[in-house]
Amino acid sequence: MSVETVPLPLPPTLDASKVKGVDPSSIDPNSEQFKEIEQLLYKHSILVFRNAIISPERQFALAKAFDPTAENFGHGNNKIEKDKQNILNRTLRGIPRVPQVQLIGNGIVHDYEGFPGEMRLEHPSHHTWHKTHLSPEDEAAGYTRFVRWHMDAALYDLQPPRVTTLYGRVVPKGPKQIVRYDDGTGDELEVPLAATAYASGKIMFELLPRELKSVAVRGRVQYAPHPYVWVSTAKARSTALAMEAEGKEVPLDNLPPWEESKIQITPMLWKNPVTGDLHFQVHPYCVAEVFIDALPEGTSRDDALYPDGAHLTDLQEVRDLLYKMQRPAISPQFVYPHDWHENDLIVFHNRGVMHSVTGTLQPDQVRAYHQCNLAASDSPVGPDEEDMQKWV
Ligand SMILES: [Fe+2]
Repeated sequence: MSVETVPLPLPPTLDASKVKGVDPSSIDPNSEQFKEIEQLLYKHSILVFRNAIISPERQFALAKAFDPTAENFGHGNNKIEKDKQNILNRTLRGIPRVPQVQLIGNGIVHDYEGFPGEMRLEHPSHHTWHKTHLSPEDEAAGYTRFVRWHMDAALYDLQPPRVTTLYGRVVPKGPKQIVRYDDGTGDELEVPLAATAYASGKIMFELLPRELKSVAVRGRVQYAPHPYVWVSTAKARSTALAMEAEGKEVPLDNLPPWEESKIQITPMLWKNPVTGDLHFQVHPYCVAEVFIDALPEGTSRDDALYPDGAHLTDLQEVRDLLYKMQRPAISPQFVYPHDWHENDLIVFHNRGVMHSVTGTLQPDQVRAYHQCNLAASDSPVGPDEEDMQKWV
């Protein structure tokens, strides 16, 4: 039986689909049905299963089906909880009996999935992360911000997960809010309360002018060691797409012990294993350095940027370049803010899209979501020879 999909009301540039007639908690990873779903995921980037009732065990099994030899959560099992300096420490809690599945959310839950007693969850807020903040009056009027545009990935030692599964078990209710970009463009985006916002890495590449496409196809980024500790003392720009370069990062000598061999360098563009499309996949606030290869001999140098190649180590320069490349794709017309229904399960191509939490929640607005992604068994693949010839 073929799997039925229904397009979601998306910006025309971001493909995603609602999957009908499939129970995601009982998919056999070896079945034809799973193979079809896997193809659909890489083709559409985001799959939504409505009315899914899925245990943490089955959610882990579903994530694992996309990468059968992957075993551990994308940041390692039970690691973030012990690392107080990590910026994710306040928001992720590994479910005790299935530590690959993280509880995220807001408000108070009781005796939840093996967590004893009362537990307070904290919705990520731009107040703890951005350099500038909305005023109380703006927030009362329904304005909010993106919190952090990112992929789910440790970016040190562990490989970026192929997919993330996100299950909305308790969904907060309330009026829509308006994301304000506050970057001088006047851009705003109306979003359902606490929507997860998605932007396509494929579109991010396609929107680039020719000369930046050439940089992207020749470019690699190097992430800082323990990047989520490294940026913990810095502040983000108002669009949540980059950090301000103010020299506030934790000095490398003050980080937890790290090894050169575990530092990650990845291509700027990651090749979709099913469609062959190139997705611009860079986790902007964890990048420390950029490498750009020289143009191959015989290539036209007209209007070319970095024709002789470059190694950028100045954080302002690194961040300004990446921001110029990534900002167009988070413009309102390209962003899909998912309107969560209780028991929605989203599976998204974590190597093909960026996402951000949005919204401002009050302490009594309970949100309990289960997130599972797994440190991958392989590294992302960059552009091939044909891509280089086409875009360089
Ligand atoms: Fe995430």
